[in-house]
Amino acid sequence: MITIKSAEEIGKMRRAGALLHQVLEELKTLVKPGVTTAYIDQVAEKLIRDGGAIPSSKGYEGFPASICASVNDEVVHGFPTTKPLQEGDLLSIDCTLLLDGWQSDSAFSMAVGRADPETEKLIRVTEECFWIGLDQARAGNRIGDIGHAVQEHAEKNGYGVIRDLCGHGIGREMHEDPSVPNFGTAGRGVRLRPGMVFTIEPMIARGRWPIYVDDNGWTIITRDHSRCSHYEHTLVVTTGDPELLSYPGATIRRFPG
Ligand code: MF3
Ligand code: CO
Ligand code: CO
Repeated sequence: MITIKSAEEIGKMRRAGALLHQVLEELKTLVKPGVTTAYIDQVAEKLIRDGGAIPSSKGYEGFPASICASVNDEVVHGFPTTKPLQEGDLLSIDCTLLLDGWQSDSAFSMAVGRADPETEKLIRVTEECFWIGLDQARAGNRIGDIGHAVQEHAEKNGYGVIRDLCGHGIGREMHEDPSVPNFGTAGRGVRLRPGMVFTIEPMIARGRWPIYVDDNGWTIITRDHSRCSHYEHTLVVTTGDPELLSYPGATIRRFPG
């Protein structure tokens, strides 16, 4: 069931998103060679709790940490570890928090120190996929318009779109209806209405899209071990441009071509 959020509910989700944005901006400053993702996770948990919120991932179906930290060929749901990050790694951090009963979910990817140009391009194109998909998150459009736009941009660059995981509705629960695939057919699927809140979260691989699940039961890894980038925000459909609840003040970015 897809719920339409009231103005008051959106106000609360805006506060959750603003805190999450602050937390992630702080975490970005920590990413350097030699730092461990276990340390970044500790800082994340403290920032979340100091902000009066709860880390939603911790204990969620047994997930052990407050962030997902996925490195190189890990797509999503990586466990923070005590292995130091290395120069040139591709790190994705995904975090969900609960503030005053409302969830917000956002992820970013970045190079650790300096990375090869291929990695930098993968990160850039994945963010572009997000913004191009976001531009379709308009009342009257359909869910398939978003996935179609994301897929077209990724594949134009020779990349694989991960099929097994999708964006999702979000509200009182971390995962609500509808599912928001990063691939699809324009004009198909649920029609978008003002007050619908969901995530868009392209997961884009240098190589091909098939994945497997690590022995830990959680971490998703590309089968061809190509690197993968992830970028995510929580947004609300409005009568105008979509509003990024997890990125206060952001305006939609567009790309030539
Ligand atoms: N944040 C993830 C998402 O984008 C969900 C993570 S669940 C966890 O949907 F338990 F792995 F943290
Ligand atoms: Co997420
Ligand atoms: Co999500």
